[in-house]
Amino acid sequence: MKRIAIFASGSGSNAEAIWQSIERGVLEAECVLLVTDQPEAKVLERAERYGITSFSFIPKSYASKADFEEEILVLLTSLRVDYIVLAGYMRLIGEVLLSAYPSRILNIHPSLLPHFPGKDAIGQALAANVSVSGVTVHYVDAGMDTGPIIAQESVEIEECDRTEATSRIQAVEHRLYPRVLQQVLNQQEVFK
Ligand code: GRF
Repeated sequence: MKRIAIFASGSGSNAEAIWQSIERGVLEAECVLLVTDQPEAKVLERAERYGITSFSFIPKSYASKADFEEEILVLLTSLRVDYIVLAGYMRLIGEVLLSAYPSRILNIHPSLLPHFPGKDAIGQALAANVSVSGVTVHYVDAGMDTGPIIAQESVEIEECDRTEATSRIQAVEHRLYPRVLQQVLNQQEVFK
């Protein structure tokens, strides 16, 4: 069974959707670690409820991104993590992790990339008055939401306020991410 680590900075509803899928047996994977750069993040409470070991760090207390990524990498290696799954992790991944996990880091983003990359994608889509936005799951590269796209699903947001648009998009995220993750884990099993 593949071993994953989830990286998150905030609420962690996507992380929870993945843990639920694992508990229900619909996602065949083991989550062995949660990594967060926000020691107060709500995702930590969720991790505790699911019995997931977590590692929190304060980026500013390291001299560089390479320094904290090296420390994370030691943990990932000792836990034999196969895949890194970003779920609302609000930082770019640096060279240390990218080169240790080539095509083994996934992200979910709340828009139809390449539209509305970066922060507050839902707010960007609403401000642009588009009637359809969506969700993208992609591999991570050094850019901001620029890696190869794995899957997308559109969501109608016409006449939605922010609350409604967010809840529609999150509902799709929570269904799509575990499913795509399973596909990626299966595929790479076959090609190994
Ligand atoms: C999600 O919308 C995800 O697409 C984006 O950040 C948000 C995280 O939400 N990358 P949550 O912490 O999983 O609730």
